[in-house]
Amino acid sequence: MNEQTGIPQRLIIVSNRLPVVFERQDGNLTFRSGSGGLVTALAPVLRDRGGMWIGWSGLSDREQEEVDHVLEDSSVASGYDLAAVPLTEEELELYYHGFANEIVWPLFHDLQSHCQFQPEYWHAYQRVNRKFAERVFEVTRSSDYIWVHDYHLMNVASELRGMGVQSPLGYFLHIPFPPPDIFIKLPWRFQVLRALLDYDLVGFQTMRDKRNFIQCVRMLLPDVSTKSMGGFHLVAHEHREVRVGVFPISIDYDDFERLARSREVSESAWYIHEDLPHQQIVLGIDRLDYTKGIPYRLEAFRNALRRFPELRESMTLVQVVVPSRTDIPKYHDLKVEIERLVSEINGEFTRSGWVPIHYIFRHLTRTELLAYYRTAEIALITPIKDGMNLVAKEYCACNIENNGVLIMSEFAGAAAQLQKHALMVNPYDVEGMAEGLRDAFQMNYDERGDRMRQLRSTVRRYDIYRWVESFLGAAISKNLSDYPVISEYIPDQDHDLSLSEGG
Ligand code: G6P
Repeated sequence: MNEQTGIPQRLIIVSNRLPVVFERQDGNLTFRSGSGGLVTALAPVLRDRGGMWIGWSGLSDREQEEVDHVLEDSSVASGYDLAAVPLTEEELELYYHGFANEIVWPLFHDLQSHCQFQPEYWHAYQRVNRKFAERVFEVTRSSDYIWVHDYHLMNVASELRGMGVQSPLGYFLHIPFPPPDIFIKLPWRFQVLRALLDYDLVGFQTMRDKRNFIQCVRMLLPDVSTKSMGGFHLVAHEHREVRVGVFPISIDYDDFERLARSREVSESAWYIHEDLPHQQIVLGIDRLDYTKGIPYRLEAFRNALRRFPELRESMTLVQVVVPSRTDIPKYHDLKVEIERLVSEINGEFTRSGWVPIHYIFRHLTRTELLAYYRTAEIALITPIKDGMNLVAKEYCACNIENNGVLIMSEFAGAAAQLQKHALMVNPYDVEGMAEGLRDAFQMNYDERGDRMRQLRSTVRRYDIYRWVESFLGAAISKNLSDYPVISEYIPDQDHDLSLSEGG
């Protein structure tokens, strides 16, 4: 029995990507651990109780033999095993680019017009989910706890059940779950919904997502009964009771704060400001993605510079865009649009010694990222919809001087926890965001300090370790009505966003 979680089994994590980065040096393949929040949180649990991470290597299936070979010794390096699922180029095209990223991703972010509902995408999704399930079946034992992650793998439980697996299966959706009016557009809505109910515990980021899911179940599956129990819902499906709960993901707060204080980051932060004297730096950091609301944000910055001349030469936007999914046409088009807007705005406002937008299109090193978090007086985080948005939490953890202002979209999952002390904006409202920028710029240091201390305390309290514990706790808890998790996160049981007129 593991003391930390109380669960007796090995833990098996299944996600589309393995949490490692492969590199070729002098022709030899090596790998190093990734730096994402998920792996940081899960690695100690996996090491402690033993376990395995199953996923795609990110490489072509032609390199699979080599991948398997280097992963053979993985448990020595990482303390747990890694097992790769090989994907052919065709599978990647149809399952990953196609079904996952041209259907589920846009649809679940309410962007139905971006969807390409190709039947062959769905068939490939089913085949690849079966392939993942087969790998899981091959390398696991019946006493293991299997925890599947994200929208690429919604069908894995149903495939495993088809293979006779009875052991408990958990699932966490990292992205939003859409409301029924949008979900029902999916041609495979019944199959997907029933597939999710083949898990024993289904976790969402916010109350909104859980509510949407339960409404879809009630609307589309009248044979299935649902009832609420504390902050959870229980769904009776094929002689099993599925638990549905809310677990807002987070970051390793202490690690971010510690690194933000390091000498390397402090020096790097000093140079950033040295290069931009007498400026408040506004920071935007996003993966290249149309859900991040970058064009509206740039329009808002332009609007602010036009309407509030006092901001000119006193405010600089540093917009970092991290390359992502560039093989998908919509992502390429977005890059072109962002670059057009940046050059238009810089063309309109640049004066000797001041360029309003510093645009960076590349991966930042961790030191650079933390230095920007530490230096920026304002973080402008305005996705049009987002499962959580960890940039917001990382910014708070790194704001060790307690002098930053967080401007935050109402439609990011993180809004549920941070709305009280951030400046909330509607990411479609260009003028409202411009006013938010002006308000943040003018906010005095007492108010900044009060708000930031509260934000930091929330993020510290509900960190990534708490997230892992609460999910695994809900997976094994005998009596969910005693389970403390939800009411601690969100005061209102049914809504996690409160909007006010004129706010
Ligand atoms: C989102 C998804 C993750 C995904 C990440 C990067 O955060 O929820 O599952 O790994 O984007 O996207 P990529 O397509 O490069 O894996």
